Formats: sequence, C-alpha cells, structure tokens
Amino acid sequence: MKPSFPFHLNGRTAVVIGATGGIGTGICQALLGGGASVALVARDINRLKHLERSLEAPRRTFSVSADITDTFQLTQARDAIIDHFGSIDLVVISTGIMVGSPFEDAIPADWVSMIDVNLHGLLYAAQTFSSDLISAADAGGPSDLIFIGSLGSHVQYPNFSVFTAVSAAIAQLSRTLRSEYGRRGLRVHNIEPGFTRTDFGRNLNHEAARAHWRHLEETITPLDPADLGRIVALTAAMPTGLNIAEMVVLPTEQD
Ligand SMILES: NC(=O)c1ccc[n+]([C@@H]2O[C@H](COP(=O)([O-])OP(=O)(O)OC[C@H]3O[C@@H](n4cnc5c(N)ncnc54)[C@H](OP(=O)(O)O)[C@@H]3O)[C@@H](O)[C@H]2O)c1
Repeated sequence: MKPSFPFHLNGRTAVVIGATGGIGTGICQALLGGGASVALVARDINRLKHLERSLEAPRRTFSVSADITDTFQLTQARDAIIDHFGSIDLVVISTGIMVGSPFEDAIPADWVSMIDVNLHGLLYAAQTFSSDLISAADAGGPSDLIFIGSLGSHVQYPNFSVFTAVSAAIAQLSRTLRSEYGRRGLRVHNIEPGFTRTDFGRNLNHEAARAHWRHLEETITPLDPADLGRIVALTAAMPTGLNIAEMVVLPTEQD
C-alpha cells in the first residue's frame, strides 16, 4: 500500500481494537498506508478475516478475535500478537456501542451493556497493553495509546445522556493517563469524532433515538472514516516530543 500522507509509520506495530468497524477499518487502512504492521481485533473472526483479505498486506496484518469486556480474551489476544509481531508500540481503541432513549424510558441493562464495552472494555484494553507501550517508550521509540472517544463528551444530546456521560469519562481518563505516562514517553490521545458514515447508529432500539439519528442523516454529510484514519495515523506519526492530545473532528455542518 502506498503512503497516503507525508509522514511514515515504518517499523511501528499497531493494535486496532474495533478494527472491523467503520472507523476502525479507516484507521487500519491509514496505518498500513503509513507503513505500520497492524493487528486487527474485534469479536467476529469471519469479519476480521474478510477485512484482512481486503487490506491486501498479508505480511503486515494479523487477525485475532477478542471481546473487549473479557480481560482473559484480551490477554490471550495480546500474547498472540506479541508471538506474531514481537512488539507493540501503538494501540487504538475504536470499540463502542450506543444506546439512547428518553432517560425515564431507558432500560438499565442497556446502560450496563454500553458501559461494559465503552468504558470497562476500554479500561481493560488500555491496561492489557500498557506494559508493552511502556516498554516501547522505555526503549526510546514512539509509543501511543489512542482512544476514539466522541463529540458527545462536549455537547448535550437529549436522549443520549448516558452515552455522552461515558464519552466524558473517556475524555477525563485520557487526560489523567496522559499526565501519568507523558513523562515516561508514552503519549495518550483522545480523538473525538462527530457524525461519521458507519453502522454505529443502526441498532438504536428507541424511536426517539432513531429519530435523532435520522435527522443527522438527513441534514449533515457525515465524516468519511478514511479521513479519521488519516488523522489517527498523523497523530501517531508526529515527532516523539509532540502530543496531539485531544482532537474534536466534525463534519463542517455539525454543531
Ligand atoms: N460513527 C459515528 O458517528 C461515531 C460518532 C462519535 C463517536 N464514535 C465512536 O467511534 C468508535 C467506533 O465507532 P464506529 O462508528 O466505527 O462503530 P461500528 O462501525 O459499529 O464498529 C464497532 C466496532 O467495535 C467492535 N466491537 C463492538 N463490541 C465489541 C466488543 N465487546 N469487543 C470487541 N469489539 C467490539 C465491532 O466488531 P464486533 O461486533 O465483531 O466485535 C466493530 O469492529 C466508537 O467508540 C464510537 O463511540 C462514532
């Protein structure tokens, strides 16, 4: 694959969790385009294998299935990636689900499922790969932990109160980890997309939430996941003394 931006990631080994998602796929394409090797992680191994074939970089891709809410599966995935590539210096967490409804109608079990993936899963994944990222930083090379958060951490969307609250928790976690790890050379970033062309809003199960998503689809041209991928690649390719710490990336029409 030809590099599609004027920076390179040659020699870097990335893990993309949520690789088969719309945004995850854009990230994998851009990291490979920059020259990195990429481990593709999500639950559905068939979708992972399909993605791997479509990326056409067999020596620089490796698929491993894991549920981000399961620390044992994450550890097994981490061990398999180290066996395959030997090291890890870039981890992107792009897994998430979204539920929405008027607060009084919400089903608490739906909140629990979302918090499990979006927050607990992100914590588990960040911790599982932390020693590899610290080792990479200790060795003097670049080392990056990148969260894909959400514009939702900054705005009030009626009917998405818990999703936006979890997004704010991710943003604050990224800030605190940044101050915990920055002096050790590990960069922590939070990239926060707005409305992006993926299947993310397809499974909303309350009419009020679906209506919000339809309104976005009817009034805004969504971001192209490939552009978000390029932003992630650019973030990782910056000189080691520079951290693009937080970035909100919006369709121009979105407020
Ligand atoms: N699209 C948007 O408009 C938008 C806006 C703001 C923020 N975001 C954020 O961007 C991130 C990615 O969203 P997207 O639009 O790319 O979503 P998506 O297309 O629905 O993809 C989600 C990805 O996460 C994986 N996943 C879901 N649950 C998982 C689990 N328990 N364990 C491991 N992997 C799991 C899915 O694969 P499997 O199902 O096979 O596991 C898939 O690869 C999310 O964090 C989301 O909050 C998206």
